[in-house]
Amino acid sequence: MEKEKKIVLSGIRATGNLHLGNYFGALQKFVKMQNDYDCRYFVADLHALTTHPDPTKLHENVKDILAEYLAAGLDPEKNIIYVQSDIPEISEMYLLMNMHVGIGELMRTASFKDKARKALGIHSDSDEIEKEIIGNQTNQRVNAGLLTYPTLMAVDILIHHADFVPVGKDQEQHLELTRRFARRFNSFYKTEYFGEPVNFNFGDHAIKVPGLDGSGKMGKSEGNCIYLIDDEKTLRKKVMRAVTDEGPKEPNSPVSEPVNNLFTLMELVSEPDVVKHYRDAYADCSIRYGDLKKQLAEDILKVTLPIRERILDIRNNDEYLSRVVREGAERTREYAARTLADVREIMGIKKF
Ligand code: TYM
Repeated sequence: MEKEKKIVLSGIRATGNLHLGNYFGALQKFVKMQNDYDCRYFVADLHALTTHPDPTKLHENVKDILAEYLAAGLDPEKNIIYVQSDIPEISEMYLLMNMHVGIGELMRTASFKDKARKALGIHSDSDEIEKEIIGNQTNQRVNAGLLTYPTLMAVDILIHHADFVPVGKDQEQHLELTRRFARRFNSFYKTEYFGEPVNFNFGDHAIKVPGLDGSGKMGKSEGNCIYLIDDEKTLRKKVMRAVTDEGPKEPNSPVSEPVNNLFTLMELVSEPDVVKHYRDAYADCSIRYGDLKKQLAEDILKVTLPIRERILDIRNNDEYLSRVVREGAERTREYAARTLADVREIMGIKKF
């Protein structure tokens, strides 16, 4: 008998075009995994609502991500591709799962603190965040959906009984919470119903793609992104403007964060001997950042331009996009309905 394939599940929020962080942290892994696993990939539009996107743009954002999935090489014949909000079972199971999630653990989640801090315009520690949240009772920007974001993400994963969840480093805490909620559900109901899903990486650790502004990760809200859809001119301009420093003054100087970020990007897109050439040039102080940036832009374009062309091709093919997600929703709902029925039964919800 053929061995059953392991289940892979992952998704990306519908909050704008995909950047190199999304690509190297997640989408490239999705594509590489599609031949060996039972893969299910979705567009997280409900999660996008936690930060209130423009209702006139949400659907367009969903289409952008779908087109980018397909353009990057996800094959709907090999994978299930769907939109989160097309699966009502997810919303019901999210309600049920919330009964087993503590407010305290949600408030301590790094991504919540980060978003709450930004929404409230405060910079300091968590005590102050809690005080502000409780004092500021009607601030919708720190809404209950944002707080319970990890519950919804756990349900996305557990409803499929996924084994692997390919995500970037920034999502690992959410994955840890997913495992915690699964264990808690199992122990509360004295069952072994849920397994414990893990991240999947082709190297030995999760990736964090840095931005071009000298510090931190590449992120949509940071304004430091290179997008898969960027045209050649825009992309070159962004790379040439990337933050660097004054250059090494002595041989074998330590590498500053902004320059190290450029090397990190280079390691993702360039041949190893090219990276070595520039690292050696840094070590002996002969490096010219202008050359390094030109090379980097060239090598990024080799990855992104073919994808960009396919995005432009697919993006307005509504017929094709809707066929893909209709089929994807149908198949996902079958799995999801089975899990939800089990969960209801385990929790004691019975039909008359
Ligand atoms: P999102 O939409 O923020 O990001 C999508 C994926 O891109 C990865 N990523 C990065 N990886 C490396 N370096 C970066 N600079 C970088 N920026 C983004 C993220 O790690 C992620 O893998 N909560 C998720 C969406 C989600 C989900 C799920 C994922 C909802 N339900 C269930 C997996 C399974 C999110 O906000 O990702």
